[in-house]
Amino acid sequence: MNQMIISGVNSQTFVCSNLGRIEHFYTVVLGLRVLKRTVSHLDGRLPVITFGFNSHAEELPRTQTVTYLEWNPIFYMMPKEGFTDPALVADAVSNPRVGDAKGRWGAGTNHHLALHVPNRNGLLKWKRRLTDLGIHVTGPYNRNYFHAIYLRDPDGAIIEIATSEPGFGHDETILGSEFKPQPEENLVGGRSELHVASETWPAPVPLITDDYALRGFHHITSISSNAERTEKFFVETVGLRLIKKTDYLDEKGGTHYYYACDEDLSPGSVITFFGLPNYVPGRLGTGLSHHFTLEVENEPALADHRERLRRAGVDVSGIQDAIYNKIFHFRDPDGHICAVSTPSNFTIDEDREDLGQSLCLPESLEPNRAKIERHLAFRPAPTPVLEA
Ligand SMILES: [Fe+2]
Repeated sequence: MNQMIISGVNSQTFVCSNLGRIEHFYTVVLGLRVLKRTVSHLDGRLPVITFGFNSHAEELPRTQTVTYLEWNPIFYMMPKEGFTDPALVADAVSNPRVGDAKGRWGAGTNHHLALHVPNRNGLLKWKRRLTDLGIHVTGPYNRNYFHAIYLRDPDGAIIEIATSEPGFGHDETILGSEFKPQPEENLVGGRSELHVASETWPAPVPLITDDYALRGFHHITSISSNAERTEKFFVETVGLRLIKKTDYLDEKGGTHYYYACDEDLSPGSVITFFGLPNYVPGRLGTGLSHHFTLEVENEPALADHRERLRRAGVDVSGIQDAIYNKIFHFRDPDGHICAVSTPSNFTIDEDREDLGQSLCLPESLEPNRAKIERHLAFRPAPTPVLEA
C-alpha cells in the first residue's frame, strides 16, 4: 500500500466577478471571516481574498480556507490554461482573448465545494436562513453518508452544506472495498422532489449560532469522464485512499467515488469525483472553482511529492512561493487543475487579530502599492497589446 504523503486538504480557489459581493456572501450570509486581502502571487493585477471558519478560531491561521480571485472583464475569457503560470497570467491580463468570462462545469473541472455542519437540524436551519435571505436552495437530500443542501455563490458556483452524520462507515466494514449501490429512494426518480423541497426549519434563524455555524470543509467534488482512470491516478500516483465507490445520485448511470486525503478520515479531508462517461468538458471562468489544493506537512514533503508525480509522468509546475505557502500545480487525467502546498501561514505579514483588515502585498510588489491599489479600485479591462 502507498504511504500517504498528503496530509489533508488545504483550500479551494474559485473565480468570481466581484470580490465585494463575494465578501458579503461569505461573511454576512455564511458567517465566515476574511483572513487575507491580497493579490495573486502570479500577477499583482489579480485581487484575491481568503476566508476562514470562525468555528475554527483556535486553529487560525492554520485552517482550511476558501479563496476567490477576481476576473471581471465582462467580454474577455479566462485562458483555458487557467492561472498557474506567471508568464501565461501576465499574457492573459495584458493580452486578453475575447469570449465569455463565465465558467461552466464539466469534465475536467470542479463541480462543488461542500461545507460542513454537524447534524440535520443545523442543515435545516441553513436552508431556512438562506431561503429567507432570498437564496435558492435545493435539498435536503439524503446522500446516505450525509444529508445535504445546495446553493450557489453570487456568480453561480455550486456550494453544498453537508452533515457529518451518519458518516461513511455504516454500510461497509472495509471502506471502499466494493461498489455500494444506493437505495432507490435516494436516487433521482426514486425520491420525492416535492417532499424534499417542502422540508425546512419551522422558524426564522436570523443569527448564526454555534450549533449550526459552518465548521469547515466536508468534501470537494469534481468531474471525471473516466472513473477508473481517475481512481488509478489519485490512488496510485497522488497517493490518496479510495473510501467509497457508489452511484451518482442525481443522474442514472453515473458513479461517485470518494477519496480520503488523510489517514484519519477527518472532516474536510475528502475529495470526490462524479464519474460521467463522455461528459462535455468544462471551461474555467467566473462562477466556477479554479483548483483545489491538497496539503503536505512541510517543504521537504512538498518536494518529495512533486518528485513522485514527476517520476510517474505527470506534468508538474515548479514549486512557487505563494507568499503564505509554497505550492505546485498539476493536472488530473481530465485536465482539472490541482495543487499541493505546504500549510498556509497567514500571520507572516499581519497580527492574528488584524487578519484580513488591510491589503497585504508581497515585499516585491510593495514599491508598486499605489499603482496596484489604483488598479484594484478601478478594475480596468485588460488592454490588448498591439503588434508593432
Ligand atoms: Fe457533494
